[in-house]
Amino acid sequence: MSRLLITGGAGFIGSNFVHYVIDHTDDTVVVLDKLTYAGNVASLAGLPANRYTFVHGDVCDKELVDKLVAKSDAVVHFAAESHNDNSLVDPEPFIMTNLYGTFSMLEAVRKHDVRYHHISTDEVYGDLALDDPHKFEPNSPYDPSSPYSSSKAGSDMLVRAWVRSFGVPATITNCSNNYGPRQHVEKFIPRQVTNIIDGVRPKLYGDGLNVRDWIHVDDHNAAVLLVLKKGRIGETYLIGVNGELDNKTVIEKILLAMGQPADAYDHVSDRPGHDRRYAIDATKLRTELGWEPKFRDFDAGLAHTIDWYRDNEAQWRPEKAAVEAKYVKEGH
Ligand code: NAD
Ligand code: DAU
Repeated sequence: MSRLLITGGAGFIGSNFVHYVIDHTDDTVVVLDKLTYAGNVASLAGLPANRYTFVHGDVCDKELVDKLVAKSDAVVHFAAESHNDNSLVDPEPFIMTNLYGTFSMLEAVRKHDVRYHHISTDEVYGDLALDDPHKFEPNSPYDPSSPYSSSKAGSDMLVRAWVRSFGVPATITNCSNNYGPRQHVEKFIPRQVTNIIDGVRPKLYGDGLNVRDWIHVDDHNAAVLLVLKKGRIGETYLIGVNGELDNKTVIEKILLAMGQPADAYDHVSDRPGHDRRYAIDATKLRTELGWEPKFRDFDAGLAHTIDWYRDNEAQWRPEKAAVEAKYVKEGH
């Protein structure tokens, strides 16, 4: 049994990870979360009090982080500013949380010799042309495009340096686009689902042919837990399920699944610097650790996700108007 410190555990992937750990292990969990606009304690409702504690705080607070890490067997660092569009409006929180926050975590795990797992993204590798036969691999060159992805790339580099220079027992995973319950309504799939619930037409950036490699959040989290327990120290593992779809196809699937005509959406202005395509080669994870995804059917996972937004309006409704007002200002 381990004592896990999970940063960003009130966010989308982190909260699903906390539920996954409680359901699949005997570990105890401490969540450290600043509760930015993206954090929601409702996502952590119903967890057993004898195995779960919530600490409201900032990963940049080195004193607090040091105290929590000293009492932990392992750290899983999810906390981040995560939204590309926000990073194009105000990059500063991305630099603070994603870079300084990771530095703060690394210094604490170095001091206390605690196992550290770093959550990262496929976006650190830049983008691929639509007809490129290659996918991202662990040793693909870093080439991030946005303030968000460059801050994540920098945080990965810090982890690699702390492993090599100080022998910190760390691993890194870089995952593709997640979907599933509890995702913030600023993100692509929840935004379109909640727009349709509200009788508003979905919004497609640019020509809509940008490709994302979709994975269910529980598959991501199962892989993270496996790498945490069995991954080789110092290694990077890519997580993905060959889930490439262009944005136009995803919008059409959402519309049809919600009983609307497939073309009932609008094109809006494109994201500056918009990455064209991401694609993950997860061979290393599959062959070395024997990982297999559970959610192989995107349409079924999407239907389940749509149901979650229909059934949990109280959770996302308070954020919806502010998110849409922000998008109007940005021309999306
Ligand atoms: P999210 O925005 O939903 O949640 C982020 C969480 O971190 C929130 O609870 C927020 O309150 C917390 N947080 C932010 N700044 C903090 C700080 N300074 N101190 C403490 N807590 C802070 O993000 P997400 O989509 O769940 O992503 C989680 C992680 O996974 C991120 O590191 C992200 O880069 C990575 N990732 C996300 C995806 C995806 O598709 N969403 C894919 C690959 C990797
Ligand atoms: O690839 C992993 C990354 O996936 C993570 O590192 C990020 O944290 C996560 O936010 C996600 O980044 P994206 O920028 O790909 O996700 P987003 O949901 O913002 O957009 C997905 C695609 O949909 C992208 O091509 C932009 C497009 N889009 C987005 C919105 C919000 C639209 O066409 N319309 C929209 O309204």
